[in-house]
Amino acid sequence: MATRLGIIKEKRKATGILGVLLMLDRTVDRLKATVAVRFEVADCIQLQETVASLTGSGDEGEGNTGPQARWARSKEAIGVVSAVGPGITSIEVGDIVGYVDNPMGSYAEEQIIPADVAIPIPPAMDYKTAASILLKGMTTYVLVLQAFKVQRGHTVLVHAAAGGVGSLLCQWAHALGATVIGTVSTEEKAVQATKDGCRHVIVYTKEDFVARVAEITSGKGVDVVYDAVGRDTFQGSLACLMPRGCMVSYGQSSGRPDPISVSKLTPKSLVLARPGLMHYTTTRDVLLQVAGEVFAAVTAGVLRVRVNHVYPLSEAARAHTDLEARRTCGSIVLVTDS
Ligand SMILES: NC(=O)c1ccc[n+]([C@@H]2O[C@H](COP(=O)([O-])OP(=O)(O)OC[C@H]3O[C@@H](n4cnc5c(N)ncnc54)[C@H](OP(=O)(O)O)[C@@H]3O)[C@@H](O)[C@H]2O)c1
Repeated sequence: MATRLGIIKEKRKATGILGVLLMLDRTVDRLKATVAVRFEVADCIQLQETVASLTGSGDEGEGNTGPQARWARSKEAIGVVSAVGPGITSIEVGDIVGYVDNPMGSYAEEQIIPADVAIPIPPAMDYKTAASILLKGMTTYVLVLQAFKVQRGHTVLVHAAAGGVGSLLCQWAHALGATVIGTVSTEEKAVQATKDGCRHVIVYTKEDFVARVAEITSGKGVDVVYDAVGRDTFQGSLACLMPRGCMVSYGQSSGRPDPISVSKLTPKSLVLARPGLMHYTTTRDVLLQVAGEVFAAVTAGVLRVRVNHVYPLSEAARAHTDLEARRTCGSIVLVTDS
């Protein structure tokens, strides 16, 4: 039998320390509440800036003061269950499952994951669609229905509107009855953003998006900005909001935004939110409910999944280089090398 590599990250409740890293051969047989998954497709998402050593959540926490580094999150994949640990009855060998967020390590051929993070994939959904929709779609659900509730009549500004999350955000906000304004860097991306429901598209590499939003809204401003670009757009995004508007900062593709004083929100009574998917999916029931909402949105045609870029897993570095260079639009997936 070929040796199989499994990666386990255990959170030790007593110490709160993340990251017991084990390289194992069929260890799942001895580990309660785990399943081994042979991955077919991994999702590729934007690199994160963080401290070089993983502390706490390891993400963008302000408490982190170490040197900045770029790192691949590798936190989502779809595959076939190849082994089941003792005591698991709800998942069987051969089931198709996916997971998002934790544990990291999805850029691998096989991984051992806690059974309670395994999400069953609907039989009719292909691997690439599932890998493209799980993290990005669930994030989109949280953004448009929980972090800020988009309603008919709202005007919504979405930065990087042709991106992986951005494309889904525009589609879902449009379906909810909002007027969507999208920003993109190229005319080619503008075409996709229009197809995804943007009534107005601003090519922000050529036009001043703050001035254009003021023009489009007749000076009124927008109800909400969804900003994944971060440093380059953050201040302008605040300027685009109407009084009592909501700034939803959910990513930082151009870098971490500069700190702002709370008093900056005062002149327009603005709300600032910094949501992360993991805090909206803290129990298995909620995780499955949110995933179910996303699968239903795909089935109902609310979300059209754009799997625009497929790379072999061995070329993950090239995928990230292209993503960082803003050469991609829609989703990027990595397929395990056969
Ligand atoms: N909060 C959460 O729970 C959560 C969950 C998932 C993802 N995210 C975050 O959401 C963001 C979007 O992720 P994604 O995978 O869908 O990426 P993406 O939007 O497909 O790619 C990044 C896009 O950002 C834009 N961009 C603007 N300035 C950039 C710069 N200096 N460098 C690179 N890109 C720049 C580019 O679009 P243009 O060329 O059109 O400018 C680029 O295509 C990421 O920051 C990711 O970490 C957050």
